[in-house]
Amino acid sequence: MGRRVLPIIAAGGPAVRFERPDGEAPNAPLALLRACHRRIRLFTEMAGRIAAATADDAAVAEAAAAVERYFFVALPKHVADEEESLAPRLGRTPCAAALSEMAGQHRRIEEALDTLRPHWQALGRRQGAPDRGLAGLTARMAALWEPHLALEEREIFPLVETMEQEPRDAVWREMRARRARVGGATAA
Ligand SMILES: [Fe+2]
Ligand SMILES: [Fe+2]
Repeated sequence: MGRRVLPIIAAGGPAVRFERPDGEAPNAPLALLRACHRRIRLFTEMAGRIAAATADDAAVAEAAAAVERYFFVALPKHVADEEESLAPRLGRTPCAAALSEMAGQHRRIEEALDTLRPHWQALGRRQGAPDRGLAGLTARMAALWEPHLALEEREIFPLVETMEQEPRDAVWREMRARRARVGGATAA
């Protein structure tokens, strides 16, 4: 079983956790937003591997705890970056419709994550092997992510690229402040 579950852990290892651009990046907010999307994709893949696992062992428990922590501690910071820092500064641009669609997708993703949380918590506490229903719930969550990330990368991120210095600095200050609070050590 060890060989099978190793990749679950590998995907969430230190290389994922410590990738965080600093303020010296040419466009730090955009660099951090892109890093967040890489992490979302990695943790979504990890969730798929957890759902496919059949054992109740330490590796699955560790992976489930990491996925639950990522989606409920770190991800909300990324969502706040987009809804509270970016959207108010981009709202009058032609991407207003995309911003509204983005927020709707966030709510649907949060609902899907809520259905998964008790499964990940139970696995994290080693209360049994992955439940049969987990695969379907995980697939539903994963299917919501790609159109969402693609929408943001296509419609919203290019506007961050051309943002004026002053609003961009304000966005960066808010993003950093979110990560300096309690729980900030969990990369988002
Ligand atoms: Fe988003
Ligand atoms: Fe995003």
